[in-house]
Amino acid sequence: MAGADQRGTAQVRDVPLSRPGQVSSAVEAPAASPISGGSSTSRTAAGQVARTVAEARHSAPSPVTTGDDLVIEGDNLDALRALLPTHRGTVRVVYIDPPYNTGNAHTYRDSFRTSASSSASSSDACPTEPASAGGPDPCCGPTHASAPSADPASGGARSPYRDHAAWLDFMRPRLELARALMREDGVLFLHIDDREQAFAQILGHEVFGEENSLGTLIHQRAKGGGQAKFVIRGHDYIHAWARSLDAAGPLVTEKKPPARYEVIDGRRMLVEDDVLRVSFGTYVRGRERRLMYEDIEAVRGPAKLAEIDRRLASGELALRPWGEPDPDTGERRHAVVRLTPAEQATSKLYSILRVMGSQGRSDLEELGLGGIFGYPKPVELVRTLVEAVTWHDPSAVVLDFFAGSGTTAQAVMEANARDGGARRFVLVQRAEPIASRLRAGRGTDTGRGTASAAAVPSASEAAPAFATISEFCAERVRRAAARWECSGSVRYLRAEDLSSGG
Ligand SMILES: C[S@@+](CC[C@H](N)C(=O)[O-])C[C@H]1O[C@@H](n2cnc3c(N)ncnc32)[C@H](O)[C@@H]1O
Repeated sequence: MAGADQRGTAQVRDVPLSRPGQVSSAVEAPAASPISGGSSTSRTAAGQVARTVAEARHSAPSPVTTGDDLVIEGDNLDALRALLPTHRGTVRVVYIDPPYNTGNAHTYRDSFRTSASSSASSSDACPTEPASAGGPDPCCGPTHASAPSADPASGGARSPYRDHAAWLDFMRPRLELARALMREDGVLFLHIDDREQAFAQILGHEVFGEENSLGTLIHQRAKGGGQAKFVIRGHDYIHAWARSLDAAGPLVTEKKPPARYEVIDGRRMLVEDDVLRVSFGTYVRGRERRLMYEDIEAVRGPAKLAEIDRRLASGELALRPWGEPDPDTGERRHAVVRLTPAEQATSKLYSILRVMGSQGRSDLEELGLGGIFGYPKPVELVRTLVEAVTWHDPSAVVLDFFAGSGTTAQAVMEANARDGGARRFVLVQRAEPIASRLRAGRGTDTGRGTASAAAVPSASEAAPAFATISEFCAERVRRAAARWECSGSVRYLRAEDLSSGG
């Protein structure tokens, strides 16, 4: 376990993952632009990593803190445990998009179908002794499998739920650790498809308490088309839980049109001109429904007028000339409008989020990384979720321990770029080999089982640009960080370095 000092920091050394052109705090690196290309330099990555790891062993350790952006290579069970000393109770948002157990993804292992009755691999199983410093291991609570691994009705024969049970056994300790890392007002989003969503929801209820469920969002990722036999599935599910519902705030997003923004005194303000109505109820087309300032006293009484005057004086409300001038006096009447600074103008998040899956692939193409990771989540989707929790907390820590292509890091960077925030990200991705036909950016893994045979490169083309998903993830983070000018805060580590204290 990482050695935690009194400030809650762990002594570790940074190692560059995969790319030699990256400056880490431990190793001087060539000044190549992280945005320029990737293939040729990446081909020497394995040798470079070995050298730089060796060099890093002789460098002075530097503490990991919650002020770092971290890209951690390794199994997430190890990494989450290793983060406990420094990050326990500090994470505001967890976004995870675990393997869907479809058996269809081609970039990474996506199946938990088992041949033996023991469902989790040994590295996924709960250890028999507490693994973390500073408290009981959240992994080692009693196991209440949500899906039985044997079917009692068939005398213990293979259960139709066994594959789900393997997936649940894999997920449970990770969710428990994630919960331990979360703040009281933290929120976890679990992105999942049809196959496991029902099981995932029950597991989440067990780990977080059903009373802390924030509900399920729908991610519409496709529209039309498809060759499904029965139904065209164009959506996934995002289950959300608060660590404590009492502490969590509403999930919010910026007000979208018809909201109107104006720059007033140099500040971008949301202008709402429909805040005061003549009466509630049915709107009669053609008849003015706004209650003009001049009519407030007659319609709603002197107390309402006094309240509006107070709010006008405070600057929360303003008056705007409205309608045609009076034919006799030439004077115009006034609508009461509400002015809200744009950064505070939010609506509650709608439960259906429509961001096409193809956008996720375009996000990678824009960074020069197309064609390898075929089903990355769209940055916009993850950014919306991150902002939904951190709108008023733009220095929050965001964790994704199934990082894949690193979408969440880019989402955090983009959220910061939009509001000037200083959110931090912690990503974990294991060094899962990328199938050789996909390594050099030639394949198309849709994560939906439609990798095309035409994608297979010739032997000479098959030289790996990225041998593992963690290398790919680290490179994506480097390129995004260069674009958003935040490379300085990002550290690339291995889980074992984190837990061994260097
Ligand atoms: C569905 S993908 C995540 C995709 C990601 N949201 C994106 O936008 O690119 C799941 C990822 O979790 C990784 N993974 C699976 N098991 C893991 C483990 N035990 N530790 C760390 N990463 C793991 C897989 O390698 C895969 O990259």
